[in-house]
Amino acid sequence: MKKEVMLVTGAGQISMAIARRMGFGRKVILGDKKKENADAIAKIMNDAGFDVVPMEMDLSSRESILTLIAEGQKYGEIKMLVNGAGVSPSQAPVEAILKVDLYGTAVLLEEVGKVIAEGGTGVTISSQSGWRMPALTAEQDELLATTPTEELLKLAILQPENIRDTLHAYQMAKRCNEKRVMAESVKWGERGARLNDIAPGIIVTPLAIDEFNGPRGDFYKNMFAKCPAGRPGTADEVANVAELLMSPAGAFITGSTILMDGGATASYFYGPLKPEQ
Ligand SMILES: NC(=O)c1ccc[n+]([C@@H]2O[C@H](COP(=O)([O-])OP(=O)(O)OC[C@H]3O[C@@H](n4cnc5c(N)ncnc54)[C@H](O)[C@@H]3O)[C@@H](O)[C@H]2O)c1
Repeated sequence: MKKEVMLVTGAGQISMAIARRMGFGRKVILGDKKKENADAIAKIMNDAGFDVVPMEMDLSSRESILTLIAEGQKYGEIKMLVNGAGVSPSQAPVEAILKVDLYGTAVLLEEVGKVIAEGGTGVTISSQSGWRMPALTAEQDELLATTPTEELLKLAILQPENIRDTLHAYQMAKRCNEKRVMAESVKWGERGARLNDIAPGIIVTPLAIDEFNGPRGDFYKNMFAKCPAGRPGTADEVANVAELLMSPAGAFITGSTILMDGGATASYFYGPLKPEQ
């Protein structure tokens, strides 16, 4: 029997929370660079009545993205996309962050945008981190939004001499995600589909818990204490936002980034989290 298909990249907590919220009754194709991660999440979900096919896939490879899409098309129309794959500043060097988070996301949005079904919806996950970087020029923003995917990593602003460290690379990648979502949403719209982005603050995951207990633990505890929510977020709260964006209630929302960070960014600019001059 043909089913609507949901493509999910990155078998982490955020992807799983969204897939559990929106993936019922659908064929879920779950790709991760680490097959064991995809297998583990697929087992949890299949044991709970979902229909998940785990796959090995690499977001930084167009060929791998096309294989994921082709696998999905075996089962039916591609109706949903959740991009929760990514590497963080403490996990990977600059080059890998740009290749996975920036280039890979851009290629995924482009390729799924060529096949997404009418009425389809997609979400990608950027980060509050992109909101802390000073504004880029209008020209730089446009380059990030519209440069052809195979030219993106050649942009002057992304060359090693212009990227300070892995955090800067991550911020540029996440800013690029927001801009690509705007530009791609126009093309998705021509197919009757919508595309949005969620920029979460700190969300509790196994990796985040390691960070809380690691050398930068005090930095995080200070951030939670001084943001309006007074705590980190949960993956299920990211799924709350994804549910709005991916359901008919969000029909007028496309090309948007929703910042959800417990107010940490607000506090960073105008409250007690503001860095001392
Ligand atoms: N957890 C947070 O606090 C937080 C906050 C803001 C943004 N984010 C973003 O949310 C997304 C998901 O984060 P998470 O916390 O669920 O992380 P996670 O580490 O739990 O999951 C990410 C998954 O992506 C996979 N992955 C890494 N590189 C890949 C590649 N090249 N191809 C395919 N899969 C790959 C990893 O193997 C991992 O299973 C990331 O983009 C991250 O930057 C997370």
